[in-house]
Amino acid sequence: MKITVYSTKRYDSQFLEQANRDGNHGHELVFVPFRLSNLTCDLARGSQAVCVFVNDAANAEVVEHLASLDVQVIALRSAGYNHVDLAAAGQCSIKVVRVPAYSPHAVAEHAVGLMLCLNRKLHRAFNRVRDNNFRLDGLLGFDLHGKTVGIIGTGKIGAVVAQILHGFGCHILAYDNYHHPDCIALGVNYVTLTQLLAASHIVTLHCPLTPDTHHLIDNDALQTMRPDAMLINTSRGGLVDTSAVIRALKARRLGALGIDVYEEEGDLFFEDLSDEVVQDDVFSRLLTFPNVLITGHQAFFTREALQAIAETTLHNVSEIERTGSSENEVKLHRF
Ligand code: NAI
Repeated sequence: MKITVYSTKRYDSQFLEQANRDGNHGHELVFVPFRLSNLTCDLARGSQAVCVFVNDAANAEVVEHLASLDVQVIALRSAGYNHVDLAAAGQCSIKVVRVPAYSPHAVAEHAVGLMLCLNRKLHRAFNRVRDNNFRLDGLLGFDLHGKTVGIIGTGKIGAVVAQILHGFGCHILAYDNYHHPDCIALGVNYVTLTQLLAASHIVTLHCPLTPDTHHLIDNDALQTMRPDAMLINTSRGGLVDTSAVIRALKARRLGALGIDVYEEEGDLFFEDLSDEVVQDDVFSRLLTFPNVLITGHQAFFTREALQAIAETTLHNVSEIERTGSSENEVKLHRF
C-alpha cells in the first residue's frame, strides 16, 4: 500500500524504512513532518493508508475527509487510540489498527524512573552539583522499600510496573476490573479506587483515556489521597485535571507530581520551542514547582520500542491489504 506517514521525525522514517525492508512489506512510504489535520489531509491523496502518532487528531471531520480521498486504513504508531473518532471511522469503513504492545518495559521503566528521580530529587541534585553546590538540604527522600504504591490499570504496562516495584519491596495495590494473572501471582491486592487513593504513597496511572477515565484524578480524588502522595502519569494527560493538581500542589495537598503526558501537550510536545514564548499558563505554572518533574511524552522512546512499533505498524497494514482484517484492529468498547 501507499502510506502517508504523518508527524514524521527522523527516527520514525529510519525505523519504518528498516522494517519495510526487513519484513519485505513493499509498502510505498511517504513521510511528511506535519500533523494530521483537516488542513493536511490532502497530503494523503493517492495513499490507501495514513500512519499517525499520538497528537495527530483523527476527529470525525478528518476521518470523513480521509474517506473522501479513498483512504482505507488509519495505522496508529501507538497503543492509545483516544485521538481517533472510532465511530466516524466505522461509518466511513476505515479500519483503525494500533500497536497494542511494543515494549511495556519502556513505559513501565520510565514511570519508575520518574518515581526515583522525584523521590531522591535527582533533577535538582544534578543542577546543584553542576553549580558546585553540594548541600543536601531539600534533597531528603524516602525508602521505596515498604511503601504502598497504587497502580490504576494493570494491563501490560501496569503489570510490569508491579513487577519492578515488587523488586523494590513495595506493597502494591491495584484498581482494575481486569485482575492480571502476573499481578495476582505477585500478591498485588486489588481494591476499590477510593481505597487505593487513600492508602498509597505513590499513585501511578496506567489505564487508557476514555470518556469514563477523563479527569479520573480530579479535585475529589486529590482530596482522598495522602497529602504527601506522589502522583505519576505516563498514560494520557486527560486522565488528570491539571488545574486541580495545581491547586493541590499550591496548598501542599500533593507531595509530588511526575508526568510524561499533559492534557494540552498537542501544542507543545515533540517540538523545539526553546526560542518561543510558551502561551500555556497552566503548563508554565507546573514548571515552577520544585516537586514537579515533566518529560515530553518520551516514555515509549527506546530502540526496542521503536523497532517493535515500526514492525507491527507495517504488519498491520499488510494484514489488512492481504486479508481485509487485522488482529490489531481497534474495537469500540467501554470499561
Ligand atoms: P492495556 O490495554 O494493556 O491495559 C490497560 C488496562 O487499563 C486494562 O487492564 C484495562 O482493564 C484497564 N482500565 C481501563 N479502564 C480503566 C479504569 N476506568 N480504571 C482502571 N483500569 C482501567 O494498555 P497498556 O499497554 O498497559 O497501556 C496503558 C496506557 O499507557 C495506554 O492506554 C496509553 O494511553 C499509555 N501509553 C503511554 C505511552 C507513553 O509513551 N507515555 C506509551 C504507551 C502507552
